[in-house]
Amino acid sequence: MNPYRVLPIFTPEKVEEYRNRNFYELSPHIYALADEAYRSLRDQDKDQCILITGESGAGKTEASKLVMSYVAAVCGKGQEVNKVKEQLLQSNPVLEAFGNAKTVRNDNSSRFGKYMDIEFDFKGDPLGGVISNYLLEKSRVVKQPRGERNFHIFYQLLSGASDDTLKKLKLDRDFSKYNYLSLDSAVVNGLDDAANFRTVKNAMQIVGFMEDEVQSVLELVAAVLKLGDIEFKPESRCNGTDESRIKDKNDLKEMCELLGIEQSVLERAFSYRTVEARLEKVSTTLNVAQAYYARDALAKNLYSRLFSWLVTRINESIKAQTKARHKVMGVLDIYGFEIFEDGDNSFEQFIINYCNEKLQQIFIELTLREEQEEYVREGIEWTNIEYFNNAIICDLIENHQNGILAMLDEECLRPGTVTDETFLDKLNTICAEHQHFESRLSKNSKFLTDHSLPHNCFRIQHYAGKVLYRVEGFVDKNNDLLYRDLSQAMYKANHSLIKQLFPEGNPAKVNLKRPPTAGFQFRASVGTLMKNLQTKNPNYIRCIKPNDKKASHIFTDSLVCHQVRYLGLMENVRVRRAGYAFRQAYEPCLERYKMLCKRTWPHWRGPAREGVEVLMADLPVPAEEFSFGRSKIFIRNPRTLFFLEERRRQCLQDLATLIQKIYRGWKCRSHFLLLKKSQIVVAAWYRRYAQEKKYQKIKSATTVVQSYTRGWQARKLLRELKYQKRCEEAVTTISAFWHGTQARRELRQLKEDARNRHAVSVIWAGWQGTKVRREYRKFFRANAGKKIYDFTIQRIMQKYFLGLKSTMPSMSPIDKSWPARPYRFLDGVHRELPRIFHLWRCKKYRSQFTEEKKAVYEEKLEASEIFKDKKALYPSSVSQPFKGDYLEISKNPKYQKLNSAVDEKVLLADVVNKINRANGKGTARIFLLTKKSVVLADQKTGQVKASVPLPDLASVSVSTQSDGFFALRLKEGSASAVKGDFLLSSEHLIEIITKLHRTGATAADSEQLNVDISDEFLVQFKHDKVCVKFIQGAPKNGNSVSCKRKNNRLLEVSVPTTA
Ligand SMILES: Nc1ncnc2c1ncn2[C@@H]1O[C@H](COP(=O)(O)OP(=O)(O)O)[C@@H](O)[C@H]1O
Ligand SMILES: [Mg+2]
Repeated sequence: MNPYRVLPIFTPEKVEEYRNRNFYELSPHIYALADEAYRSLRDQDKDQCILITGESGAGKTEASKLVMSYVAAVCGKGQEVNKVKEQLLQSNPVLEAFGNAKTVRNDNSSRFGKYMDIEFDFKGDPLGGVISNYLLEKSRVVKQPRGERNFHIFYQLLSGASDDTLKKLKLDRDFSKYNYLSLDSAVVNGLDDAANFRTVKNAMQIVGFMEDEVQSVLELVAAVLKLGDIEFKPESRCNGTDESRIKDKNDLKEMCELLGIEQSVLERAFSYRTVEARLEKVSTTLNVAQAYYARDALAKNLYSRLFSWLVTRINESIKAQTKARHKVMGVLDIYGFEIFEDGDNSFEQFIINYCNEKLQQIFIELTLREEQEEYVREGIEWTNIEYFNNAIICDLIENHQNGILAMLDEECLRPGTVTDETFLDKLNTICAEHQHFESRLSKNSKFLTDHSLPHNCFRIQHYAGKVLYRVEGFVDKNNDLLYRDLSQAMYKANHSLIKQLFPEGNPAKVNLKRPPTAGFQFRASVGTLMKNLQTKNPNYIRCIKPNDKKASHIFTDSLVCHQVRYLGLMENVRVRRAGYAFRQAYEPCLERYKMLCKRTWPHWRGPAREGVEVLMADLPVPAEEFSFGRSKIFIRNPRTLFFLEERRRQCLQDLATLIQKIYRGWKCRSHFLLLKKSQIVVAAWYRRYAQEKKYQKIKSATTVVQSYTRGWQARKLLRELKYQKRCEEAVTTISAFWHGTQARRELRQLKEDARNRHAVSVIWAGWQGTKVRREYRKFFRANAGKKIYDFTIQRIMQKYFLGLKSTMPSMSPIDKSWPARPYRFLDGVHRELPRIFHLWRCKKYRSQFTEEKKAVYEEKLEASEIFKDKKALYPSSVSQPFKGDYLEISKNPKYQKLNSAVDEKVLLADVVNKINRANGKGTARIFLLTKKSVVLADQKTGQVKASVPLPDLASVSVSTQSDGFFALRLKEGSASAVKGDFLLSSEHLIEIITKLHRTGATAADSEQLNVDISDEFLVQFKHDKVCVKFIQGAPKNGNSVSCKRKNNRLLEVSVPTTA
């Protein structure tokens, strides 16, 4: 039922809901039907057709679009598939733009019949499609009934095309400029022509139209519009014939430019008509009416041929690319039953209604008659259901002898004057008796007084109601005449599309036969369509119109009732209710369901019927659910069928699993065998390799063992050889020893013998000597012994001294060596001789000395006499030469004054420390010694502090230790003694004392100076005597000698022990 408003039941969710669901499972829906058809096609390999019927405006076209969109949504996906789908879907807007128009019943009424075959591959993916079109209502191009419009494309082009395009097409946007466009309903509510134009262009592009093809199509559309504007005016010729002239040639010119036609050619075609018959060619002029007729005929032909070309062109694009076998789903959307209430029905309505009549026929055939007959044929118990069979109406129209179409053709082809009236007359005579034909003038007097039936009309009682047809135009429309001059003019056009559309205009292919009439063509094509539909499994969508106002929410009971009734739905329901939902021949049924029973699976050897019986008995289906016909099984409820299908599906799944299992098993096994084979090869190779390795290992091991063994054997051999050699050597040695021993024994023996012999000779000699001496004793003198003794001694001494000459020691006085004595009796000599030699050697040594050196040694000798072994300081002084003048007093200008003060020669000059008795500290003083006196002087100034003549000196006291302290003791009562003794210390103590001692000795007028060596002595200071005591100091005091005053009478000098 057309809701006349958008309902939310055509959404993708709904698609999913209905997808793969059983037909009666959900509430009725176009999707349910489409799904059922699609699945039967895909799964049961049955070609399907979907027949959409209903009155004009009942929603057939919408329904067909829904079917296609559903199929597109559920079938396979993929780039190629999507392209095919898109092209199939987009063919719709193109065809609708050119073939649909607004009518009083429907704003988008299809003015052509369309049957579309969609082709699928075995998987159910769309491959392509074929569209067949049926008789476009072309009269609409030139004239539209009141309240209706021309085809959409004209309005779309004018409102949607760009200015540029319009200019190219030489068009104006204003609809009112064009005669062919009706103005009263040019704008339709809810229809956006401009937007639709864009959609159409886009769709053409998707479908695969080339840019220039689109352009050509638009040029033709423009040409049709232009054609409508060509107007003619009458012109009387002098010969009395009427002629026509084109009023305003501008439109003609523009149109010719558009199509590339020479203006004069077209102009002539509009003015003359050439009739060719056999060898004759007659040209007659056209009057104004004929010219208009010619113009409109051209416009209609141009447009309808363009439409057919579009369909062909779309088919070219959408046709399946593969030649593989395919399944087909046909969708038939044909113009709906149409009645104009005011009786304005014409040839087109007649044709349309005839077509619907045929569709109803096919419905009756397949569902009502065929089904019922089948029950009877199959021997199923059946009570016949009565229904109206419209075959009689079809026969009225299409009967080859006396059908209305046949008579119309006959009338058109008949020579002589033919008008619509003659045609009606003919009908009146021939069809008068037909119970569905009504005419005022028919012989059936029943209608003579029927005023609802005008004279120029006839009425047919269609299955859907009575329709009053006005005969006017029937003949012309059926003839569909286009003057040859016009088609030839079109063929001459310099426009490839136009040339294609008018092939009969080709002068080379002049065909004098009349072209088939429109009625004939239509009947033929409907005939093929019906045959085609009969081969397919039909699915019906019966569209019902709720009201005549194209309005939602209005439900006109009578209208709906009427439709339901004439569509035969009641009978249909009754048959369905009483009958069986499903039937199938035994063979295919068994084939399809044999897997449901163990006894029929996999092969049933008996007749198919028995197989099915066994099968059904085996299934848990109640017996009343099915009947067995002669050749078919009948199943009452869809439920049962679904049950079977479900079981089958499960079974197939299991079987598929089984096949899969076996295949997998086989695959795994062959894989395993391959693996095993490979494994053996690998193992063989590996074993070979391993054995080779092992062999090599053993081989090398063997070599090693062998080499060891050989080594061992060789060593053994070597050992034996060595042993042998040693044995040989030992033998040699032993034998050598033995020989040696033997030899030595022999030698000893020989020696013994020799000794014995010698002893004998000695004893013999002794004996001889004794004998001689005894003999000669009487001849020796008494003193001869002494002489021999002296001589011997002399000889020995001589030898000793001569030997001594060569063994004399060196001349150095310190050399103490002396050759050893040879004889003991020379002991005394040996003692005396070294002493003499030493003295002589010393004398020789001394004789080399000069006077000074001699003096020095004398001094040193004297020092030794005084101090040796008495004072510890002495040994260190031995190696120091006595220099005397340490200050070089005569040379140093500093001491010039002092030097001059001492008139004697200075023997010694040195710096000494004068010890202060008060504190024991020393003061540096220059100490001078001359032959006569001792002088003490200040060290810095050189001023003489004291001068003591040597005779005044009584003695000198020093300690036994290694210090340099000495005290000069003055003679009591002498002049110098007044000041007291001097306690001094010097580094050259030994030298000073020695020199003092010597000088004192040499001085004639004084006696020897005493040197006291003691660790305690008294020193006279002015009035009192102070004892100076020397103690051994601890080394901690340092190496220096320190003098400390202990008390008035004691000065203690601590001397560090010398290590
Ligand atoms: N299923 C639907 N839902 C909403 N509107 C519908 C539906 N079917 C039809 N119509 C409305 O009815 C109009 C006529 O439908 P259409 O299919 O062209 O009729 P038909 O082809 O039978 O002459 C559409 O233009 C649309 O407005
Ligand atoms: Mg339609």
